[in-house]
Amino acid sequence: MSLALPPLSLYVHLPWCVRKCPYCDFNSHEGRGPLPFDGYVDALIRDLDFDLPLVWGRTVHSVFFGGGTPSLFPPETINRFLQEASARLRFAPGCEITLETNPGTAEHGRFELYREAGVNRLSFGIQSFDDGCLQRLGRIHDSNEAEAAVRLARDAGFDNFNLDLMYALPEQTLAMAERDLERAIALQPTHISHYQLTLEPNTLFAVKPPPGIPDDDASWDIQERCQALLAEAGYAQYEVSAYARPGRQCVHNLNYWHYGDYLGIGAGAHGKITLPASADAPPAQVAGARIDRDGTVLRRWKQKHPARYQADAGTAAAIGGGEAVAPAQRPFEFMLNALRLVDGFRLGEFIARTGLDVEAIRPRLDDAIARGWLERDGTTLRPTPRGRQFTNDLVSLFLEDAPATPSGSSVPMPDAPGEVIR
Ligand SMILES: C[S@@+](CC[C@H](N)C(=O)[O-])C[C@H]1O[C@@H](n2cnc3c(N)ncnc32)[C@H](O)[C@@H]1O
Ligand code: SF4
Repeated sequence: MSLALPPLSLYVHLPWCVRKCPYCDFNSHEGRGPLPFDGYVDALIRDLDFDLPLVWGRTVHSVFFGGGTPSLFPPETINRFLQEASARLRFAPGCEITLETNPGTAEHGRFELYREAGVNRLSFGIQSFDDGCLQRLGRIHDSNEAEAAVRLARDAGFDNFNLDLMYALPEQTLAMAERDLERAIALQPTHISHYQLTLEPNTLFAVKPPPGIPDDDASWDIQERCQALLAEAGYAQYEVSAYARPGRQCVHNLNYWHYGDYLGIGAGAHGKITLPASADAPPAQVAGARIDRDGTVLRRWKQKHPARYQADAGTAAAIGGGEAVAPAQRPFEFMLNALRLVDGFRLGEFIARTGLDVEAIRPRLDDAIARGWLERDGTTLRPTPRGRQFTNDLVSLFLEDAPATPSGSSVPMPDAPGEVIR
């Protein structure tokens, strides 16, 4: 079996925020004083130039500006970056280009200019429409500002936008969570991400959890009720936390979940690139070391600290680290992503993305089916509702050293190994 090239995406990390939220463990930094937007964009372009040899000749299917708070960057800087990037990489027609937006940074006139720069999708960090919740979360905006920002974007012609909401918030009741969703749906987004608040290590909330966080049962009730509300309003769940109107699933995130490839540029950005066996391609550089192209999945990440990243971008010193993903690790990595999807994955996709035979995971698939966590439909495997309830347990069956307990059921082989996916 050999690795096939999956679709390629581009992730661009913009690391500054107005204020650090107490629950957030993203590589985001409170911006103090004037921020070096132009210098940072120069660094992104040097970084991209350094990574280009990994993806020569490939087409980019989506671009995602994530943060931090990308909407802090003036539209001219986003425009310049996109112009430089599209001069170096082929963008697919209709390439999805998303910019994450904090409603507290929305200014009149900016949205038009982001659109003119080529951004065609926005993702708003709303979190809640309850002003008390927003305050407890340390957000810089209130609910009216959030609604106004979304309306401004719509008036500027953005017809494709996501709203991020969190639930199981401090002192949140089921009725409050329902109201949040109702106000979100009233704004007619094409996509809603509905995340359960998690207390991430190394955050203020982990050190000093806020009082009134709903317990597991209450969180479960909120999740179930909100899923039903979303379905009634025409938002189909396609991933653990993602809901979309028909045809409006996030192309960029879907590529992650299908174990696709992505270049990661910017401070702390992670990338994953498939290097199929090729005699003529030059070796790849990983953290200064050479990796021959004998067919591998390469992961690498950039230095996290914005100032150091900016100084070193475009040289090997900006690479924070990297690794070739050993074949034995690939089933777990693949499942960690694909089993988040309501529609699961096809066996041909597993083969193409990991370069492995289905035999490598057959006992574990059988085990998951026997436990009632996975179901098969021809060559498609998808998590059952029970499997979706225990995603972590399901995925951990595919850990390199997890015991596989073969059972009686068996999984059919795809008709055409290595079939083209998507
Ligand atoms: C990078 S932020 C989005 C844009 C912008 N920085 C903002 O917050 O407005 C990505 C999203 O992840 C979610 N998120 C962040 N930390 C989380 C946590 N600890 N638990 C659950 N969701 C979280 C939030 O919904 C947030 O909008
Ligand atoms: S604005 Fe977004 S990225 Fe920044 S600290 Fe808050 S949640 Fe994190």
